[in-house]
Amino acid sequence: MVEAFAVASGKGGTGKTTATLALGMALAEEHDVTIVDADTGMANLLFHAGLEDVETTLHDLLMAERDVPVEKAVYDRHGLSVVPCGTSLADFESAEPERLREVVAILAENTDVLLLDSPAALGSKSAVLPIVLADRVLPVLAPTIPALSDGLKVQEYASSYGTGTGGVLFNKVREESRMDTVVDRTERYFDGPVLGTVPECSAPHQARAAGKPLLSYAPSSPAAVAFTEAASELTIESGDSAAVAERFKSAVVPDRP
Ligand SMILES: Nc1ncnc2c1ncn2[C@@H]1O[C@H](COP(=O)(O)OP(=O)(O)O)[C@@H](O)[C@H]1O
Ligand SMILES: [Mg+2]
Repeated sequence: MVEAFAVASGKGGTGKTTATLALGMALAEEHDVTIVDADTGMANLLFHAGLEDVETTLHDLLMAERDVPVEKAVYDRHGLSVVPCGTSLADFESAEPERLREVVAILAENTDVLLLDSPAALGSKSAVLPIVLADRVLPVLAPTIPALSDGLKVQEYASSYGTGTGGVLFNKVREESRMDTVVDRTERYFDGPVLGTVPECSAPHQARAAGKPLLSYAPSSPAAVAFTEAASELTIESGDSAAVAERFKSAVVPDRP
């Protein structure tokens, strides 16, 4: 039984990768979780997860001629299965984005929760596929009213492919007291709840510099606590693994978003 989420945003740098790893680790307390760096052009999950020296990554799986089995790019780390992506521009250019469908289909057979760390913009095939493939999208947004319109575009795009909204995560919140209006509007316009408002603090950056996940480096930091609470707000709605895998394999890849 599996449910797939795309951790997405309108803009870069909102904290998608940080959130993917933190939500993944928190959800791993109860579920079998796999996280995938599907941001294949700007991959950075490998640095957050301490996997920068690994040999095989998602890029290899996305190139037919390399003929690498999926399990070679799956690493058991931090209580999760982690599929990192490499950072070579040449590999990104040789990768065939469509192959993500088969990769995700195979991963779906062996896990309960799949989190796809997704690219920011919606401008290309590789950028939109994670959102098309996922059951639900989790927008990670800056805590401002303008950021809501980015999130709504992601939601609109997702819903045009039958992908629902799992909930919105606000990250790098400076003043909790100013969040009321933002949260009110979010609950009015989004199809999912506000899962959490994660404060800005020094721990995520320090953890990233140490090559460790936030939840193991500084589990009691304000951001780690907020991500953990956000994960507990998310109810997993598992679909039958075989049916989900079949859906991934046959997903129509949009030519243009
Ligand atoms: N709650 C937070 N407080 C402070 N810094 C944060 C927080 N969340 C993420 N960051 C930092 O912001 C930067 C971008 O985060 P990242 O997760 O890589 O974003 P994205 O994947 O959306 O591009 C990183 O340096 C990260 O350490
Ligand atoms: Mg990222």
